[in-house]
Formats: sequence, structure tokens, C-alpha cells
Amino acid sequence: MTATHPSVAEAVAGRGTAPVRAAGWGSGGLDGRAALLRRRYPTIADLMVRARRRTPRFAYDFVAGGVGDDLCLARNRAALDAIAITPRLGLDMTRVDTTVRLFGRDYRAPFGVAPMGLAGLLWPGVDDALARAAQRARIPYVLSTVANTTIERVGALAPDVFWYQLYGVPENDHAVSFDLVARAERAGAHALVVTLDVPVRSKRTRDVRNGLVVPFRPTLRTALDVARAPQWGLAMLRHGQPRFENFLAYAGRQASTADLASYVFQKMTGPMTWETVARLREAWPRAFLVKGLLHPDDAEKAVSLGVDGIVVSNHGGRQFDAAPASIDALAEIAARVGTRTSLIVDGGMMNGLDLLRALRHGAQAAFAGRAFLFGYGALGEEGGDHVARLFEEELRLALAQSGSASVAEARATP
Ligand SMILES: Cc1cc2nc3c(=O)[nH]c(=O)nc-3n(C[C@H](O)[C@H](O)[C@H](O)COP(=O)(O)O)c2cc1C
Repeated sequence: MTATHPSVAEAVAGRGTAPVRAAGWGSGGLDGRAALLRRRYPTIADLMVRARRRTPRFAYDFVAGGVGDDLCLARNRAALDAIAITPRLGLDMTRVDTTVRLFGRDYRAPFGVAPMGLAGLLWPGVDDALARAAQRARIPYVLSTVANTTIERVGALAPDVFWYQLYGVPENDHAVSFDLVARAERAGAHALVVTLDVPVRSKRTRDVRNGLVVPFRPTLRTALDVARAPQWGLAMLRHGQPRFENFLAYAGRQASTADLASYVFQKMTGPMTWETVARLREAWPRAFLVKGLLHPDDAEKAVSLGVDGIVVSNHGGRQFDAAPASIDALAEIAARVGTRTSLIVDGGMMNGLDLLRALRHGAQAAFAGRAFLFGYGALGEEGGDHVARLFEEELRLALAQSGSASVAEARATP
């Protein structure tokens, strides 16, 4: 699988330039297993379909769903689809360079894995598997505060691409928040991403309807649901239910899965204010980003506090149903602060065209959440590799078709 990407050494040396292959025919230049997966699942949407078939409805809905009536979720997709790009022709596009430098480090392509909490509900082991896949693909992997694996483990699995996302734990003057951040620093995280767009927990209608509780308690309905997805049921039996691993240090080593869930529910709530952001910025020596901003004035505020970057995001349509599409907010924020800070966007990224749209709207990179989870839900360990390959291949084609031979050129094109 790894052999199908340009080598990591090449990417590090900034030589991620590869010929644009004749993608429409045959294997697209891939060998063996990768070529087979490409034929069977040529798009991320194909992986989504397979992931849905293999998982119980409450688990799939938890991942795929949005807040309220899924309006913001739909807005992300509609806004991306509405962006047309007029190609420039007569240029030599035989070689296209997808590499990108973010906060002083080189990555193979301008996309990464967004932070996702409780992803283990979709399939056990997904956090570690995606961290490994990101390390192989050499793209950023952002570990969520409420992941089902530990900071220390991901630091070891993905040393070149590990970023850490923080949700605050306000009690005791944020003692736990600062401890989590110190652990991330010790584990080698290259960037800290502080999420601001959860001032309160949101009402995810699908989860309410499905009776989703953590830890999961079987009811007649959910038992029938699991019976439809026996492989998922077996995987859960083997691995046990997903736990908020990083909170064992605070809830007590003996804490059960239920104790950990109630610790997170009770303590990881309350304000993450600009004052706390300023303190975290002071405490963190490496790249510092805030995530979830949509308003240019908030972006201005973040820049005034010395952030290195902003993740323009509406949380994948999972927080505030009236929020604008993040790609639209990106354009406004780029116009205001784009020359003074680095911008990353997420929300609805499903193919290489979406990535190109993000670059053309002022982003240095775009992150994807669900796309990677669908890959793992569909294919297991090799799913993350396959999603990374699809994004990279499609981005390469989109760059070439639009007339940009590199990420930098795409960003510079008005
Ligand atoms: C299952 C799931 C869990 C998430 N958990 C977190 C989280 O713990 N922290 C965070 O900052 N964002 C979280 N997000 C939001 C993602 O980081 C990202 O903003 C969003 O998924 C991007 O949209 P996409 O899924 O359409 O690519 C989560 C998203 C999903 C789908």
C-alpha cells in the first residue's frame, strides 16, 4: 500500500511532484491491492455506502449526521458544489506538485485528518488506524481530546504528522486542560488546535431519535440494529466499548467506561473564552491554531492573540444549524486576515475538487473528517490509505485540469 504513494523521503525533500497519470483508464498506474480498491471504490462516496452497510444505524448516524435538521451539513455540500473554476489552458501539466509546508513542516499534500471524538463508535480501533495511515501518507493527523486512544500512543504511532486538538476542562482554572496540553507537548504534537465552536453541546436529532447513549446500552431497537451488522458487533465484543482514554489520568485509573463518560460529560463543559485562548497560546511553544471560527471579526481577534493559524469550520454541520458553509466563511476570513495568518478549512470535503476549491478560496490546506471514518468503516486498516490516495489522485487531476502545477500556484490564482 505504501509503495503507491511517492516516498516519504521524497515528500520531505519537497519532491512530491509526480506525473499526472491517465486516470480514466485501467488502474491509474497503481498495482495490486491499491488498483483493486480503486476499481471497486473509485470515490469516497462509494466507501460511505459500504460503511453504512457494515455498521448499525445509530453508529453510522452518529458519524454522518449533523445538528438539528442537517441544514448546515447540506449547506457545506451545496456551497462546495456551487463553486465553478474556469480552467487555464496551454500550460504544461505533465507534472504536478501536491506538497505543502505548514507551520515549518513539509507534508505530502494539502489535506489532513480532522479531529474526531468518539470515532471508535463507528468501528473500534479507528483512531490508531487513521493515525498510522496519516503517518504513511505524511499528512496531518489531529487527535481529538475525546478520542478513544491516548495522546502518548498517537505520538508514537504518527510522530511526523501528530497534531493535538483541545476541548477545555474549565474547573480548577483549567488545570486538566493545561495538563492535556503538556502531555501533547511531551508526546511531540507539532501543533495545538483549540476548538471554540462548542459553547454548549448541540442537539443532534438523529442521536436523540436513535436513543444513543454513552456508554452504549442495548435496547430492543439497538439490538436489532446490531444484528444487521454482525461484524461490527463482533468487533465491539473483541475490543470492548470505546472509552475516553485520555481522562483515565483524571477520573481515576480504576474508572469504568461509564465513569469516564460521565466525567467528560460533567467536566468538559463550560466556556472556552478568548482569555483562556491567550493563556494557552502563552503556554504552547509550537504552532497554535484555533478551530471553529466563521466570523471575520473573530478571526481578527484570534490574530491579535498571536495564533499561527485558524481552522475555518462549522464542525461539519454538527453544532449550529444556521451557520454558514465553511467554504463561504473561508472566503470572507481570507479577505480579512489571509495575509497575516495561515488558514485551514474543513466541512464537506469529499473529493479532490473540493480540496482545489478550498485552496482557491484562500486555504493552505483542507481537512476531512467523515471521509476518513467512512474509509475505515468500509475497509478497515487499508481504508485510511485508500482515502488518502483518492484525495491525492483527485487533487492532482484537479490541479492539472484547472491549470495549476502546484498547491502554491492554485493558491495564487485569483
Ligand atoms: C464523529 C465526529 C466527531 C467529531 N469530534 C470532534 C472533536 O472531538 N473535536 C473537534 O474539534 N471537532 C470534532 N468534529 C468535527 C471535525 O473535526 C470536523 O470539523 C468536521 O468533521 C469536518 O467536516 P466533514 O466531516 O464533513 O469533513 C467531529 C466530527 C465528527 C464527524
